[in-house]
Amino acid sequence: MSTDAYNQFIISIEEFFDSQKRDLPWRKAKPVPYEVWLSEIILQQTRVAQGTPYYLKILEAFPTIEDLAEASEDKLLALWTGLGYYSRARNLQKGARQIVAEYNGEMPQSYGDLLKIAGIGPYTAAAISSICFNQRKGVVDGNVYRVLSRYFGIQTPINSTAGQKEFQQLADSLIQEATEPKNYNQGIMEFGALQCTPKKPGCLLCPLSEVCHAYQNGTIDQLPVKIKKGKRTQETIHFAVVKENDRWALYKRDHSSIWGGLYEFPRLAVAPKNAQLLQGPTIHKLSHKDLHCHFWEVGLDELNEPQTFYSKAELEQLGMPIIVSDFVKKQQ
Ligand code: ADE
Repeated sequence: MSTDAYNQFIISIEEFFDSQKRDLPWRKAKPVPYEVWLSEIILQQTRVAQGTPYYLKILEAFPTIEDLAEASEDKLLALWTGLGYYSRARNLQKGARQIVAEYNGEMPQSYGDLLKIAGIGPYTAAAISSICFNQRKGVVDGNVYRVLSRYFGIQTPINSTAGQKEFQQLADSLIQEATEPKNYNQGIMEFGALQCTPKKPGCLLCPLSEVCHAYQNGTIDQLPVKIKKGKRTQETIHFAVVKENDRWALYKRDHSSIWGGLYEFPRLAVAPKNAQLLQGPTIHKLSHKDLHCHFWEVGLDELNEPQTFYSKAELEQLGMPIIVSDFVKKQQ
């Protein structure tokens, strides 16, 4: 592609951000690094519309890095319930503790130093260092893969090692020419979220369509290329719902699993005989697995170990997988 096409891309992206950017709570004249960090971790797993309420309530509960560092894990996970990827919440807190211990509570500014913080990978380090400190490191998220693959006609699969390297290099070289790196990086993500969308992109009114490789070649629907992974696995879970004096038996999961630190009903190896099915099977979709969840009403004698009981009010203060929290919400 010509130098002109390259430069036009950068200029159009920055113009797009200036004129079309959404007014979001963490977008301030002088962005607060902690707020940008929190927003970026949440936005890695959710869209802006769904993620913003979580952002607001978590920031209200923990307004500073110190507050997050000192927070109870249960309270953080309770606020995170429904967002999924709970290890991100735990790593966020680990990172906050590291920043308090090693950086006196001040977020480091460079991409390299940010990468050393727990839970901060290349994407988040690039986002924070550019948005808050105007550094020239390209962000590469799902939006960026889509925009770059279409405009430049890149067919390398985005979930291959070669693809990740190629897109990161292109993003890094483009941002060198930007007027304001912070606007360019946010602009390319904003452009992907609002204009160059996965389905029905707004090509007819797009400032880049005349030069866009995919638009000119009719390949918008085929880009980005992603290698298909194997079939999703199916897993069945039988939850034992034991209720005594308006309290339920639940336990806190250890930290090794994806639901680490969350509370759930004890599990039964198989469906119990002569028990009433209160709900299910309800299907809960994880990134690569479908969980078929059954909730059985059983007596305490079905469980081998001693149990801790919680009231509905107590459970509201604890983190639960959304499938368990939805069940509890429906109970009297
Ligand atoms: N999606 C994730 N982070 C974003 C950001 N900073 N701007 C626009 N969209 C985003």
